Amino acid sequence: MSLTKTFSKKLISWHEVAGRQGLPWQNNRDPYAVWVSEIMLQQTQVATVLERYPRFMKRFPTVRRLALADIDEVLAEWAGLGYYSRARNLHACAKQVMEQFSGKFPRDPVLLEQLKGIGRSTAGAIASFAFQERAPILDANVKRILARLFCIDGALQDKVVNEQLWALASSLLPSKPQDMPIYTQALMDFGATWCTSRKPVCLTGEKKCPFAKDCQANLSAQVLLFPQKTIKAKSPEYECDMLLLRYSDHVLLQKRPSKAIWGGLWCLPESAWVAKAKVSKADSRVKPKELLALVLPNEQAPPLLKICQQFERGEQIKHIFTHRRLWMQIWHAHVSKPYTFANEGLQWVPLAKLGQYGLPQPIKLLLQGLSLIRGDDLKK
Ligand code: ADE
Repeated sequence: MSLTKTFSKKLISWHEVAGRQGLPWQNNRDPYAVWVSEIMLQQTQVATVLERYPRFMKRFPTVRRLALADIDEVLAEWAGLGYYSRARNLHACAKQVMEQFSGKFPRDPVLLEQLKGIGRSTAGAIASFAFQERAPILDANVKRILARLFCIDGALQDKVVNEQLWALASSLLPSKPQDMPIYTQALMDFGATWCTSRKPVCLTGEKKCPFAKDCQANLSAQVLLFPQKTIKAKSPEYECDMLLLRYSDHVLLQKRPSKAIWGGLWCLPESAWVAKAKVSKADSRVKPKELLALVLPNEQAPPLLKICQQFERGEQIKHIFTHRRLWMQIWHAHVSKPYTFANEGLQWVPLAKLGQYGLPQPIKLLLQGLSLIRGDDLKK
């Protein structure tokens, strides 16, 4: 029998014995709960989601509550999960669902895909988990499985190859809609745990792959050659200076513009990010006092400079984003008086309240390392 006919049955049988069971978002047909878990799982490890998902659902138990929340609250709850555009899209999508669909997620994957932050594969996952729709998914793991099963040549980003994979993904779906949730979960689990990128079970010999006799790549001993590897250029490096300015038990934070990287999060005032010099020349760097003028609005630097005690060069932190690497040079200083800012985007935040602010992960770790954030503030 052809693989198209047997694939879903074999995969579901595999899941019964070797798939991931008992995850808190499984066996839940509430589209809101399914959607939140799928977005959180997109770029975050299952172990982290296991910890953070229940907390998020407790804080925002319905799409209505999420839509009505302030974006700052959502970003603060998302802090540490990274890829903050997901949190901003989550909030925007909740509003769309309230306004355009009277608070009810549509079941049609085509309509789901029109919502903020929901791509074609995530739309398929939501439709399948929540509504038992016969909608395919095609994330990186599924692409790998299919590329191996059918020896699909060509780069995965290629439009034609992509369409070929979507067509295959559709052709393999189970015929019964009620099998869709378990099938979709099984496909995700199989890619994440058995048909992995570097150590697929067929090559380790420890476990018997249910598709060993179907998989074209395995039959021709070419499993690691599929899918075709893309050569990634090394991501560019940037550097910037950041000011860790303290007054008594407060620290100065600046709100980032919503469209920027870490958009809407609170960060230390910083200079522009510039391409990192190949050889770091001490004198090419900004002088700490000039930094105030660089990182603060013009009229606020001079008065602050007067009350600013000595600057101290602090740690250099490296942070890796998907498409760039950033080196942050931290400068520590204290001010003797609580200079107040006209601008709402600059705030002296009491150390005890840092946990209520959405902070980029490296900044959170830095402040934590300085014992500026108490553990119990962060767990909230
Ligand atoms: N990644 C994306 N969705 C997932 C899910 N439902 N289970 C496990 N990993 C996932």
